[in-house]
Amino acid sequence: MSKPVTTSENTQLKDIVAHAKEYGFVFQSSEIYDGLAAVYDYGPNGVELKNNLKRLWWEAMTQLHGNVVGIDAAIFMDPRTWEASGHVAGFNDPLIDNLDSQKRYRADVLIEEKAAEYERAGDPARAAALTATLGRLLTENDLAGVKQLILDEKIVDPLSGSAKWTDVRQFNLMFSTQGSAVDSDAPPVYLRPETAQGIFVNFLNVQKSARQKIPFGIAQIGKAFRNEIVARQFIFRMREFEQMEMQFFVRPGTEGEWYDTWKAARRRFHEAIGLAPEKLRFHDHDKLAHYAKAAVDIEYEFPFGFKEIEGIHSRSDFDLTQHQNLSRKKQQYFDNDLNPDTGKPYGNYVPYVVETSVGADRLFLATLCQAYQEETITEGEGEEQTTKTRTLLKLHPALAPIKAAIFPLVRKDGMPEKAQEIFDSLRFDFRLVIEDKDAIGKRYTRQDLIGTPFCIVVDGQTLEDDTVTVRDRDTREQTRMPISALRAYIGERVSFKTVFAKL
Ligand code: GAP
Repeated sequence: MSKPVTTSENTQLKDIVAHAKEYGFVFQSSEIYDGLAAVYDYGPNGVELKNNLKRLWWEAMTQLHGNVVGIDAAIFMDPRTWEASGHVAGFNDPLIDNLDSQKRYRADVLIEEKAAEYERAGDPARAAALTATLGRLLTENDLAGVKQLILDEKIVDPLSGSAKWTDVRQFNLMFSTQGSAVDSDAPPVYLRPETAQGIFVNFLNVQKSARQKIPFGIAQIGKAFRNEIVARQFIFRMREFEQMEMQFFVRPGTEGEWYDTWKAARRRFHEAIGLAPEKLRFHDHDKLAHYAKAAVDIEYEFPFGFKEIEGIHSRSDFDLTQHQNLSRKKQQYFDNDLNPDTGKPYGNYVPYVVETSVGADRLFLATLCQAYQEETITEGEGEEQTTKTRTLLKLHPALAPIKAAIFPLVRKDGMPEKAQEIFDSLRFDFRLVIEDKDAIGKRYTRQDLIGTPFCIVVDGQTLEDDTVTVRDRDTREQTRMPISALRAYIGERVSFKTVFAKL
């Protein structure tokens, strides 16, 4: 068995999209009606992988930290929440329409794409200057300036080539719906654009009921909705997506250390679940969101370039103070630790917040891109030697949708019954499948394609001495072992502990 040559560097997003559909990971939503743009459904393997990612994140947050607890807040919130948070006034993207093609674009994205063009053409200085000008215009909310920049740069509609643009205007990304079944004048309720606000408005409920002392965190996984103008790149930018957010409440003045601590911790998490260190990088924000005092993205190198998968934000006391002002309910904490400078308790204050916010879907996509491999392998010896390409998902075993597949070598001689016996003895421990159709090689291929780390073969020898072969997905090596050893062998390798130990 020779060493495989991996060609995953050339993987394109279209390969991932096709694979995700073919093998039951991700489907376009309402596909039979031609699909709803930027909305996706997870299939049988996708939901398992996504649930594993979510469980890993959840346990890494709440089980590994005595001072991080979870909540599950509602998607609908009092509309005043979004006034306080700044989303009603400020959660906008600058959009522009092309009069010829009738297509709508994000004005900032058109300019960023132009900057990327300069970069590719070997003029990074021009690219940087353009990005800086855009940043300044957006900070000053100078929309006329943004349009002028588009005209000056001779940016045309990528579809029609036309330069006939409307003015740039701000477009609020929040979806809203009817707030009351009885009162048609009732204000609309929004579908939350981030899960974080459900945490902020519950800050005191959680602190008191969970008897937490600062510093402590509140974690949540849930759906969020944004009416994205540019909805491209598969599940990277969706209109309905899932966030995994943790707000860490700290004493003012200590937020800098906590920001650094969480920044490092979150990168370790991504590496521990198998994202390649060289495909991860930090990117400090130039343009800060309305709530942020400092912000960094953890970016992953997708087939379409380095893009954000997670944001770490130092949000100061912005959100709690805003909610305190609008609700007129104090959002303070009494800190009875002694301040060494005064010898007195720190007393009452509105805590500062360091937030970690990762999209479950983006993490899913990064995981899939990382795992997707095409290898050229050589099998057999001498004249029998053949070379072929195999496609596989090298998922971390803790993430794999199915942990082991059991193959009776043939569908007779008691082998199917033995396979069923093994399945029954392990089904409380792992998600397994029995595969008895087609030749063994084809069955291995099917499991490689969905990332199953182990294939257990029941053969003639099994019936004599209760041993099986276990084939490793990545090395293709087979090891014979007693059936009684399977639980420990597989368990050790698929356990979340293998990830947690690296955090
Ligand atoms: N509470 C802070 C917050 O929402 P964000 O940077 O806007 O910050 C955090 O979003 C994460 O949510 C992103 O890093 C990304 O992983 C995910 N996310 C944001 N918008 C998304 C979208 N339209 N589709 C998929 N994931 C998205």
